[in-house]
Amino acid sequence: MACREHLPKNRGKWVFAGITCVSVVVIVTTVLAITLRQPGCELEACSPDADMLDYLLSLGQISHRDALEVTWYHAANSKKAMAAALNSNVTVLEADVNVEGLGTANETGVPIMAHPPAIYSDNTLEQWLDTVLGSSQKGIKLDFKNIKAVGPSLDLLRRLTEEGKVQRPVWINADILKGPNVPISFEVNATQFLALVQEKYPKVTLSPGWTTLYLAMFPNRTYTRAMVEKMHELVGVVPQRVTFPVRSSMVRAAWPHFSWLLSQSERYSLTLWQAASDPMLVEDLLYIRDNTAVHQVYYDIFEPFLSQFKQLACKERNWEG
Ligand SMILES: *[C@@H]1O[C@H](CO)[C@@H](O)[C@H](O)[C@H]1NC(C)=O
Ligand SMILES: *[C@@H]1O[C@H](CO)[C@@H](O)[C@H](O)[C@H]1NC(C)=O
Ligand SMILES: *[C@@H]1O[C@H](CO)[C@@H](O)[C@H](O)[C@H]1NC(C)=O
Ligand SMILES: *[C@@H]1O[C@H](CO)[C@@H](O)[C@H](O)[C@H]1NC(C)=O
Repeated sequence: MACREHLPKNRGKWVFAGITCVSVVVIVTTVLAITLRQPGCELEACSPDADMLDYLLSLGQISHRDALEVTWYHAANSKKAMAAALNSNVTVLEADVNVEGLGTANETGVPIMAHPPAIYSDNTLEQWLDTVLGSSQKGIKLDFKNIKAVGPSLDLLRRLTEEGKVQRPVWINADILKGPNVPISFEVNATQFLALVQEKYPKVTLSPGWTTLYLAMFPNRTYTRAMVEKMHELVGVVPQRVTFPVRSSMVRAAWPHFSWLLSQSERYSLTLWQAASDPMLVEDLLYIRDNTAVHQVYYDIFEPFLSQFKQLACKERNWEG
């Protein structure tokens, strides 16, 4: 409009006006692009369905497309734990989502940050996202503990994404199949979980897992081929990237199955995790590392095992870590 008010009569002025308009548009676009962009992050690598390694690489937080460089904070749920996680140098926050008052007369349907059996928290998912998105560039992995938490949480994520606030990868985790040594069913309903993601917030990375129990007496009892095939049946057809959380103490004994799983799709990766009480064999981790490409397996492992493993992996592959 500003350009039209001073319509020039001759060609020279037209050209001048044209150049001025184009310059203004270019300057405004550039300023907007610089303001809205997160420093160092290319737009595609910053979307919720982006590859975690591409995102962290574009921020300069990792130096290679190597999933061993990604670091994790567990159960960043309460306000205190969340603050500690945000102040740490980890690259991805993992947190648990439950429903406030679940299973009691006081059930509200509000997604909160709590690991069962906790059904109350000083942090709702909304408060958590507000703080984490507003004050960090860390990747996000949300672990859903009950199907009732999934719908409202995805609605919230969708709204925040439409407002331009979710410019980073989001992993949506739930244990949707019964896994090794688990006598009862407490998994999240797989059909409903996958349908909710497709319907409400499909631009994510899926992290579908198995419920597990580790029995120290029977270290050879692990994931079966049938469990792994069932999972591939469920997610072989979805469009998302998929990372399978696998309990690290049981991965070596089931390696033929997971190796098969990884070979089924370029979209697949593994995230090895460790329960605090689990024994850990660094040799097992090295075996996995030696039999996969470095972008295929994330290692969410406690110290001191992680450092020991990184040292050995570094020696073997000349990895700069
Ligand atoms: C991150 O912090 C931990 C302990 O707080 C420290 O041991 C480690 O060296 C740090 N890593 C980097 C890459 O700064
Ligand atoms: C529900 O909340 C009320 C009021 O805070 C409390 O008195 C009651 O014990 C709660 N009920 C349950 C089942 O937690
Ligand atoms: C999961 O939910 C679907 C759809 O609501 C239902 O048909 C199915 O029986 C449920 N599966 C299990 C194992 O409960
Ligand atoms: C585990 O090892 C025990 C003893 O060696 C054997 O009896 C059992 O069949 C094994 N179980 C599996 C699932 O391989």
